[in-house]
Amino acid sequence: MKKNKGLSAILQAVMSHSAMAVKDKYYPRWHLAPITGLLNDPNGFSFDGKYYHLFYQWNPLSCEHRNKCWGHWRSKDLITWQHQPIALMPDEVYDKDGCYSGSAAMNNGKLTLCYTGNIKFSHAGRSAWQCLAVENEQGDFDKLGPVLGLPEGYSGHVRDPKIWQYQNRWYMVLGAQTLDNQGKVLLYTAPDLYQWQLLGELAGSHLGGLGDAGYMWECPDLFELNGAFILLTCPQGIKPEEKDFLNTHSSAYLIGHFDYNTHQFSHGELIELDAGFEFYAPQTTLAADGRRIMFGWMGVPDGEEMYQPTIINGWIHQMTCPRELEIKQGKLYQRPIKELQQLRNKQQHWHGIADNAPEVDDVSVELDIQLSGGLSIYFSDTLELIIEKNQAILKRRSFKNAQWHSRYWQYPVTQLQILCDSSSVEIFFNNGIGVMSSRFFASEKQQIKFSGKDKITLTYWRLNDALVK
Ligand code: FRU
Repeated sequence: MKKNKGLSAILQAVMSHSAMAVKDKYYPRWHLAPITGLLNDPNGFSFDGKYYHLFYQWNPLSCEHRNKCWGHWRSKDLITWQHQPIALMPDEVYDKDGCYSGSAAMNNGKLTLCYTGNIKFSHAGRSAWQCLAVENEQGDFDKLGPVLGLPEGYSGHVRDPKIWQYQNRWYMVLGAQTLDNQGKVLLYTAPDLYQWQLLGELAGSHLGGLGDAGYMWECPDLFELNGAFILLTCPQGIKPEEKDFLNTHSSAYLIGHFDYNTHQFSHGELIELDAGFEFYAPQTTLAADGRRIMFGWMGVPDGEEMYQPTIINGWIHQMTCPRELEIKQGKLYQRPIKELQQLRNKQQHWHGIADNAPEVDDVSVELDIQLSGGLSIYFSDTLELIIEKNQAILKRRSFKNAQWHSRYWQYPVTQLQILCDSSSVEIFFNNGIGVMSSRFFASEKQQIKFSGKDKITLTYWRLNDALVK
């Protein structure tokens, strides 16, 4: 993409298609979505002391996985976001096939991006550079070029740097694939953001007690949380189990302990981060008050994404809501951040047998349900949540054909918090110890209905729209 030509094509795409996207009945009312084109991973999620920044993988020109730029929003409150100038375009030799995912951090008082410059060869194969860019006075980003090439012993699939500073040193985790197709997370350190030194493999397939755990690990994020360490990672090629790891690619985590002296990460088993149909490539940052907050992409690559009906209106995909992460009694919890309560309208309350519960006739709602037995919730004609004695099942019609597919959360459910938008649902089980995120495209008027012979206590709120200006 040549810079000037690229910018005028992007401007034309936005001028021609953004009205169509926003008028689409499936366009989110309060989640972040692309104004046109394709959005995937959250990138560079950070706080600069005044603003939160959320960048995103963005193809402004079409709904395909090509031309990856970094779009950019910023916010003071994590609810109202402002569009910022496009931050990165693939306009240099070292990033010509995409400014791929990465992270952001404050360095010498300046917001600095670390991203992957992706290069594809005409005869197949690829290479990658880890690159820097720094914010200037105008709020644009000046590229500083590559600072790290491919390590020896790995394929061209090395990407998605997450950087952070600890006791005056910089650290980076990087997604990687060995030459014999094993997915790994590499750990680097540097005194500055330039002189990176490989410390070794932090985790991966056939490491740390894991067996075969996929051919590529994307989008790592390592952080301390409530005295433990979490590694988020997106392993590709995990063998599906009967009720787990059913998406084409998974988003998972390891809980353990990381030692900054030995650079060893000891951890437990690989656990899916979200059991729904769409969740991938999450990224976290620390909020001003110390909370660990995460955004995920409510999409999954290589599955049925290209059958989503919004493509005819020139846009595809959205982010999840921002979620606070916590570890309690050794378990990871995710909850919608408390700021989202500002979107709530008047509280409605109801108690009784589920079969008699009122229908909720809106696309944008939050539900809190206490239950002690079975329950079914229908989201129009396309999605159904069934709570059985020892598990929750989410059933959805395929985007490709009308077949029903299922996802599972295999524990007894006593409480549900459900956040619903025009074409998405995020279901938090038992105060957030389990989550399912999914898109759904109702072919009729959107309505939520309940059925079941057991009693439920239902509290719900219609949600206001959140503006992106
Ligand atoms: C994950 C991913 C990343 C890559 C980016 C490209 O969805 O494949 O590994 O950097 O998307 O858009």
